Amino acid sequence: MSRAEKIKAPRGTFDVLGEQAGVRATLEARARAILEGAGYERIETPVLEATELFARGVGASTDIVQKEMFTLDDGGGRSLTLRPEGTAPVCRAYVEHGMHKRKQPVKLWYLSSFFRHERAQAGRYRQFWQVGAEALGSEDPAVDAESIVLLSTLLEEMGVRGIRLRLSSLGSRESRSEYRERLQAYLREHEASLSEDVKGRIELNPLRAFDSDHEGTKRVMEGAPRLLDHLGGEDSEHFARVRELLEAAQVPYEVDPTLVRGLDYYTRTVFEFTSDVLGAQSGVGGGGRYDGLVEQLSGPPTPGMGWAAGIERILLAGEPPPVVVSPVDLFVALGEELREEREGGDELRSSRVVRRRAAFELLAEARSAGLIAQMELAGRSLKGQLGYANALGARYVAIVGEDETVLKDMQGGGQETIATETVIHAVLRALRTL
Ligand code: HAM
Repeated sequence: MSRAEKIKAPRGTFDVLGEQAGVRATLEARARAILEGAGYERIETPVLEATELFARGVGASTDIVQKEMFTLDDGGGRSLTLRPEGTAPVCRAYVEHGMHKRKQPVKLWYLSSFFRHERAQAGRYRQFWQVGAEALGSEDPAVDAESIVLLSTLLEEMGVRGIRLRLSSLGSRESRSEYRERLQAYLREHEASLSEDVKGRIELNPLRAFDSDHEGTKRVMEGAPRLLDHLGGEDSEHFARVRELLEAAQVPYEVDPTLVRGLDYYTRTVFEFTSDVLGAQSGVGGGGRYDGLVEQLSGPPTPGMGWAAGIERILLAGEPPPVVVSPVDLFVALGEELREEREGGDELRSSRVVRRRAAFELLAEARSAGLIAQMELAGRSLKGQLGYANALGARYVAIVGEDETVLKDMQGGGQETIATETVIHAVLRALRTL
């Protein structure tokens, strides 16, 4: 019979193991400290959402909606999609839970996995993690600046190298629609030099032409009208305030009038942090304002501002602080069996049961006393247990016998034989005097 092939994790997905899990936990702890310190509350939304949420929220003409969603039928004729991003789901939750009745802005953060059917490569996956922050209910430019400063702080704390912040404004929907017409006219004039992709989007999404890698398109775009030069009065005032506040916070940025983002909901401020150590997938995190999105999802008119950053990209470009591994205070070992015990006799066998039970009780007591404790779980010899305890970095090992326990100091080298019920007290006292 031929052996079946090994089953591997699907393309573009990966397992998080050992040290990587530790580094991610550090990132999550930093994000929590920074964001909850600034009044953001954690939110978890479902992995599956109605497909329509993204079609309406992210935009029908975007790459995400056109080609990157993992969509399935729920069996009852409804179309569901594995969330490709977090902003539309957060806005849905804001509307669904009547959060507009709370004090505004409502500030929410998440750290979750997202799914996009992309060509997998280093830094680009089909299941990836984002940390994100969304502030809903205020159009104050201070919300924009605070939000950007928070991401800048997180990237700095995670040691992300070669950071650049690109900043721009897309204006309000009204000023953008005038500009769109101007840009469409310009693109039509130069249609012959444009890529097929860009040509196909002149009607739907002309701004994406700024994002093209196609040489002919790039040349055309050098002379294209810039949205930043056509902002309405209030929009340019808003942008100036955001810039002023970033300068006050000493966060360096470059204004980049060609910055467009791959999602349709943005208005006014848009930004992106890139790292020059990342190669092709240089975007570490980005976001912006989305003042029309909640209303588009049938909620009350509500401004919003936020960002998301890729966990894998932060870790690829970062030098995260070392993972602090909690030391094991006490390892509970089982004393070597006596030869007669192995050879049998119900009475002797029951003595082994008594010791195992005593060891298990000691483990539970140690943990309720606040000690970090582990116990032998793999039937090792006493020598094997001591080697294992040493590899765990255990401070003390308790070798549990029937009535008494040998307490071994793994760092100081001494040992003493004491009554099992006094072990915890002895370890606590010794740790206090260290
Ligand atoms: P986004 O630019 O599509 O924005 O994604 C944000 C970040 O997620 C990117 O900068 C990148 O680090 C990471 N990312 C995206 N796709 C992948 C992938 N396939 N593999 C690995 N990492 C990836 C958004 O998602 C918006 N929701 C951000 C936002 C929040 N805007 C306002 N609020």
